[in-house]
Amino acid sequence: MTAWFGAAEPAEDAGVPADVPAYEDAAELPPVPILRLRDVRKTYISGQLEVEALRGVSLAVGAGEYAAIMGPSGSGKSTLMHILGCLDVVTSGTYELAGTDVSGMTETDLAQVRNRQIGFVFQQFNLLPSLPAWRNVELPLAYAGVSPAERRDRAMSSLERVGLADRVEHRPGELSGGQQQRVAVARALVTDPSLILADEPTGNLDSRSSEDVLGLFEELHAAGRTIVLITHEAEVAARARRTLHIRDGQLDLALSGAGAW
Ligand SMILES: Nc1ncnc2c1ncn2[C@@H]1O[C@H](COP(=O)(O)OP(=O)(O)OP(=O)(O)O)[C@@H](O)[C@H]1O
Ligand SMILES: [Mg+2]
Repeated sequence: MTAWFGAAEPAEDAGVPADVPAYEDAAELPPVPILRLRDVRKTYISGQLEVEALRGVSLAVGAGEYAAIMGPSGSGKSTLMHILGCLDVVTSGTYELAGTDVSGMTETDLAQVRNRQIGFVFQQFNLLPSLPAWRNVELPLAYAGVSPAERRDRAMSSLERVGLADRVEHRPGELSGGQQQRVAVARALVTDPSLILADEPTGNLDSRSSEDVLGLFEELHAAGRTIVLITHEAEVAARARRTLHIRDGQLDLALSGAGAW
């Protein structure tokens, strides 16, 4: 926040496009943002090569929103998700998560923010193959210092919630892809995070399993969680309440509309 207000006035208010609608009725007001990016840039340097993966992204996602981010391969979606998830930091610009500017935080502080506030679901499930489902699910609680008994209870109820009460002792290799992704969703939920970030969560699933996982996201959204889901499938994005389009590291404001406020 300080960086934003301390900086020279931007040429245009990067956060508010000119065509943002007027809200006459308080009920139509956009919700309080849980995520707010202002003019975020991310440059990767590998060897001699610099890649500008994000080139000035400004967006806000309100608490309790269900938003999809779409865009072609290489457009910067995963880079954006890594920043939103505090897995990586911005090169310039600011990122506020639940009102706190996390752009300048240390790795230790970021790890704590991730653990307390964010649940992740990835395309590749990222489960540990040697551990049974419930042990995979309890892992974030172990990092948070929760007692073993409580960890087990919470892992079990999280697995029950995703419909896997009868698979808690199975290892990832003994589960179908869809079941593995549900374990990953259970793991994302176990810390009771306010924000769930999913990067191509249905990318490796058949249509039936995709449907299961998308159904879970809908339940979570109905229960008040904020969900940001990255996909390049239009049918998946259509399940979210709004879609932001990214292209060459920038939001396509024409396609994303006032959604990018
Ligand atoms: N760690 C990295 N080091 C260097 N360049 C990177 C790194 N990660 C991503 N990039 C580059 O940044 C750009 C954006 O990558 P990103 O992974 O965000 O794309 P994406 O939209 O998620 O694509 P996909 O749909 O294929 O997953 C690409 O040009 C990519 O090569
Ligand atoms: Mg990606």
